Amino acid sequence: MFIRSILQASALLYTTVTAQTACNNSPSLCSKPYNNITHLGTHNAAFLRDASTSFNTAGNQFYNATVQLSAGVRLLTAQVHQFNTSSGQSEWHLCHGDCKFLDAGPLETWLSEIKSWLDANTNDVVTLLLVNSDRASGSTIGTQFSASGIDKYAYTPSSNSSSQQTGAAQQTWPTLESMISNNTRLVTFVASLSTPSPQHPYLLDEFTHVFENDFENESPTDYTCTPHRPSGLNTETALESNRMFLMNHFLYSTQTFGIQTPNVTYTTVTNAASGEGSLGESVLECSSVYGKAPTFVLVDFFNVGPAVQSVDRANGVQSAVGRKEVSADIVDERTAPKSSGGAVVRGRGKASVVALVGAVVVAVVWA
Ligand SMILES: *[C@@H]1O[C@H](CO)[C@@H](O)[C@H](O)[C@H]1NC(C)=O
Ligand SMILES: *[C@@H]1O[C@H](CO)[C@@H](O)[C@H](O)[C@H]1NC(C)=O
Ligand SMILES: *[C@@H]1O[C@H](CO)[C@@H](O)[C@H](O)[C@H]1NC(C)=O
Ligand SMILES: *[C@@H]1O[C@H](CO)[C@@H](O)[C@H](O)[C@H]1NC(C)=O
Ligand SMILES: *[C@@H]1O[C@H](CO)[C@@H](O)[C@H](O)[C@H]1NC(C)=O
Ligand SMILES: *[C@@H]1O[C@H](CO)[C@@H](O)[C@H](O)[C@H]1NC(C)=O
Repeated sequence: MFIRSILQASALLYTTVTAQTACNNSPSLCSKPYNNITHLGTHNAAFLRDASTSFNTAGNQFYNATVQLSAGVRLLTAQVHQFNTSSGQSEWHLCHGDCKFLDAGPLETWLSEIKSWLDANTNDVVTLLLVNSDRASGSTIGTQFSASGIDKYAYTPSSNSSSQQTGAAQQTWPTLESMISNNTRLVTFVASLSTPSPQHPYLLDEFTHVFENDFENESPTDYTCTPHRPSGLNTETALESNRMFLMNHFLYSTQTFGIQTPNVTYTTVTNAASGEGSLGESVLECSSVYGKAPTFVLVDFFNVGPAVQSVDRANGVQSAVGRKEVSADIVDERTAPKSSGGAVVRGRGKASVVALVGAVVVAVVWA
């Protein structure tokens, strides 16, 4: 009797604890496979339009990685470039198009920031997508991961389903709760990884596992759900390949000299939950094309909308827990807080128009 009631009591306690434990801000997501939920992603997460960059118009986000993650972002993207110091040393930085244009500092520093967040938030699975602009090898990128210590959280597909050898997408992804209980809570994609490193098997070639729609849109009527990268896929073969769908949803605007910058003023429409050209509408449309919601959605200025509303709806999440509020306003020099920590910006205001145009062409190719 006594033992049975203890067992019942502990079973009750266990159920209560389990029910209260949120994975990626909701208990309802714990038992879902990683590829069967929608993750909110920040396009060019490291390139800020804030006081630290003097509101650089090439910036894609108003808030840094820590704020993004605390507000519910679970996929961060950035471009990795080789940066040669004046003494001729090679470093790997996060730069927008070109390090002369917008240099958000070393990759390792940014990884350390994200590692600190993962240290403090033990029930969250986060994904990184690194655009490999200067074709760094897996071992070069992996060295930065080790130096930051974030590699301790890195998820590696089980060898049976590993695509490293076969070039096929992983078919079955673990549930969030199993990734959390193994403490392998960081998934990393690299676009592209032509020289994988056996020492860093957690660096996964993006287009082996993921397909994307076109990212280069300038009008709210431009969005499509059709596969754009990798080439050679259509909606049927994309699904059959087991790749996960990353839905780009942001607008560029073309300035003088063909320079493309994010269309910031229109973000209230772009990131809204409904209406023509909204994130919510694109999620619904692409969900009907593929028979399931996109695994990742990628937006500029994530706080506006707020974009997370459409993601919660796709996940059937009604009341998310553990998020820190962030203003849904467009931030500009007049309304911004006076200072914010972070990025070192080199060459700002000094870059010639030629350098700017070159940078933007690169930025678009690698967006
Ligand atoms: C994935 O989600 C869909 C609906 O969103 C559901 O029907 C399906 O059973 C889920 N698959 C797994 C493996 O959980
Ligand atoms: C940095 O130096 C390497 C050779 O040491 C060179 O291949 C590369 O183009 C340089 N990168 C930049 C951005 O100057
Ligand atoms: C492991 O791989 C083999 C060969 O591709 C496949 O037949 C088998 O179903 C896989 N097992 C699991 C558990 O995925
Ligand atoms: C958890 O770790 C065990 C032992 O290393 C491994 O067999 C299993 O596949 C891992 N599960 C996940 C979801 O990574
Ligand atoms: C942003 O997009 C909207 C809708 O297409 C357009 O009306 C507006 O002119 C664009 N803004 C800029 C600066 O291009
Ligand atoms: C991120 O932004 C917040 C709010 O502006 C600031 O307090 C924090 O120091 C920043 N973190 C980093 C690593 O720059």
